[in-house]
Amino acid sequence: MDYNYSLIQSELRNKICHDCLNQELIGLQDEQEKLLQLLRLCTLFGESNSILIIGPPASGKTMLIRSAINKLRDTEDVADKYSQVNLNGLIQVDDKLALISIGEQLGVEDVRDRSIKSFGETFAYILESYKNGNPKKGSIIFILDVFDLFTRHRNQALLYNLFEVCQSAKVSVLVIGVTCRLDVLELLEKRVKSRFSHRQIYLLYAPSFDQYVAVFKSLLKIEGKGHKPSQTKSWNNHIEKLANDGSVNDILRRLFDYSKDLRLLKNLLVTPVCLIHESHPNIVPDDIIKSCKHIVKDYTVLLLQGVSVLELSLIIAMKHLSDKRRTTTFTFEMVYQEYMQFILYKSQLVEKFPKPVIFKAYERLIDMALIKPTNHPHKRLQKEYWQMSLLVQPTQIAEALQKYPNCPTSVMQWALNPIHS
Ligand SMILES: Nc1ncnc2c1ncn2[C@@H]1O[C@H](COP(=O)(O)OP(=O)(O)OP(=O)(O)O)[C@@H](O)[C@H]1O
Ligand SMILES: [Mg+2]
Repeated sequence: MDYNYSLIQSELRNKICHDCLNQELIGLQDEQEKLLQLLRLCTLFGESNSILIIGPPASGKTMLIRSAINKLRDTEDVADKYSQVNLNGLIQVDDKLALISIGEQLGVEDVRDRSIKSFGETFAYILESYKNGNPKKGSIIFILDVFDLFTRHRNQALLYNLFEVCQSAKVSVLVIGVTCRLDVLELLEKRVKSRFSHRQIYLLYAPSFDQYVAVFKSLLKIEGKGHKPSQTKSWNNHIEKLANDGSVNDILRRLFDYSKDLRLLKNLLVTPVCLIHESHPNIVPDDIIKSCKHIVKDYTVLLLQGVSVLELSLIIAMKHLSDKRRTTTFTFEMVYQEYMQFILYKSQLVEKFPKPVIFKAYERLIDMALIKPTNHPHKRLQKEYWQMSLLVQPTQIAEALQKYPNCPTSVMQWALNPIHS
């Protein structure tokens, strides 16, 4: 099929790299309705309110707000009835910056030139200028992203004044705080907390696997603008087949089990989409598999690649111990004996270390959490006698050995063939 590849690629890139406004919100309909209700009350009936949206990173907080505002614009005639002020705790790090930004976003330009005596006075001036501005303006929606950082401002003046305005009838405002911190209310000063409405929306929703696959498909399918209908159909059929492919399905399942974060799913698709070209017209399962290897890293393997040869040898000794004795627990003495068998067998080829040095290496493995005590050891019991278990899988050891820089051949061979006494 004769596709316009650059058009397909730019359409898909837009979906993946920018938070697309038209993307469907999954599973947060009740939350959206709740927020929409407050938006309606504020913009249409002039009722002030405050609300906190709390959820882990990438749980859809920003998307929820955007979709609710879009729905408000689609369903009601509010275009000139409100203004939106976006603040971010990482950008407006103090009240002066916040005031300047609020002024600019509300069209009150002279805030920067005024001497700011107190937050309250300047904020009142901004609201007054806004209200009396020409043409007459309506309600204000304040969106405070990374809300928890605003609690660090001096006297929490910004939050105090915003919540205070919510309670007065000066201007109708809706304050939406967005945060990842569940304990955010504890961070508010008493006088600020008492002015907050205590409305909260918790986003603890996780998509099902079917929904996850549906998002995968919708991110890769094209809408049809600028393409012939036959091309759109053919491309979308190709994506449907890709999603049904066994290896792609395995990768999606693995990623889904690892994290249900849709941002990670989007990251998975960045490389395959960038590879679309006339010489590589379709997205193939191999593109997805390779991309997955890049984005999901096994940190235990990376950690093992950085340990010393002695520490790696001790890990191998522990692996052999658990294979031979069919036990998952061991003490330092057992590991030491297993390691010494290897040293005696290959005495010409490997560097020898005194026992205290070997013990130090063993302790480092505990510090790196590659091995851990099986139960809480008694305070007086020396570390040599602690019952330990290995937290590294045999496949992780094999992978680390392959990637280990300049691994001695004798250690490599020992890892594959244990020495039997
Ligand atoms: N319920 C959902 N439905 C559809 N897409 C979602 C949903 N939740 C998250 N996403 C997608 O996941 C990505 C991250 O979402 P969003 O930016 O809204 O997260 P966030 O909670 O604001 O994260 P952060 O705390 O990092 O700001 C977006 O690309 C969005 O499209
Ligand atoms: Mg966000």
